[in-house]
Amino acid sequence: MKALCLSGSPRKDSNTESYLQVAAETLRSNRIETDLVTVVDKVVNPCRACYECWYKESRECQQDGDDFHELFERMVEADAILVGSPVHYSAVHPTIWNLLVRASFPGIRDHPHSGPRLFDRKVGGPITVARRAGQNFALAQLLLWFNLNNFIVPGSMYWNVGTARSIGDAARDEEGIEIVRQFAENVAWLLKKTVP
Ligand SMILES: Cc1cc2nc3c(=O)[nH]c(=O)nc-3n(C[C@H](O)[C@H](O)[C@H](O)COP(=O)(O)O)c2cc1C
Repeated sequence: MKALCLSGSPRKDSNTESYLQVAAETLRSNRIETDLVTVVDKVVNPCRACYECWYKESRECQQDGDDFHELFERMVEADAILVGSPVHYSAVHPTIWNLLVRASFPGIRDHPHSGPRLFDRKVGGPITVARRAGQNFALAQLLLWFNLNNFIVPGSMYWNVGTARSIGDAARDEEGIEIVRQFAENVAWLLKKTVP
């Protein structure tokens, strides 16, 4: 069983990464192989709406020249995907959103000749981080993505939101850390039930 934690913060040692590290440690303590990838060093350009991924047999995004394909392959390989994003103006950070948008048409397309849809019944869910407000808007933005892509998204003791401003603040957000830990425990529990 493999889990992939994607951090959408453009900052090094970000708060988003701190919450995801808690999730990753929890998953590893459940003997789930877990990678944490931060998109801070990655370039993922926006979808060009060429529709090639929708109509071509390969179901691949045809746009090259950035880090999309490497990240997309890791998403397809994983049994669970956790996406963390800082909140910027009540929304998800654009780089991680570009990745999710470009992964989505190949993911949701009904394709009887190639078997099930790419993310069918993977386990996963979002975590959003803000200084004061907007976490729920960004959380909803990500939940809609997980929902459309046919993920199974477990809950926690509260919504998966962190309250943090400066680097290092996440470590002091005891409730946020506990919410993320519980969420990751639920991801591990579900994985053990659903992955053969
Ligand atoms: C461009 C920008 C927009 C932001 N917008 C919001 C916002 O809408 N609401 C909020 O509470 N904090 C906002 N913040 C603060 C960040 O969400 C906060 O610093 C968070 O800890 C960043 O997470 P990170 O360390 O993972 O990057 C914004 C920060 C930046 C740079």
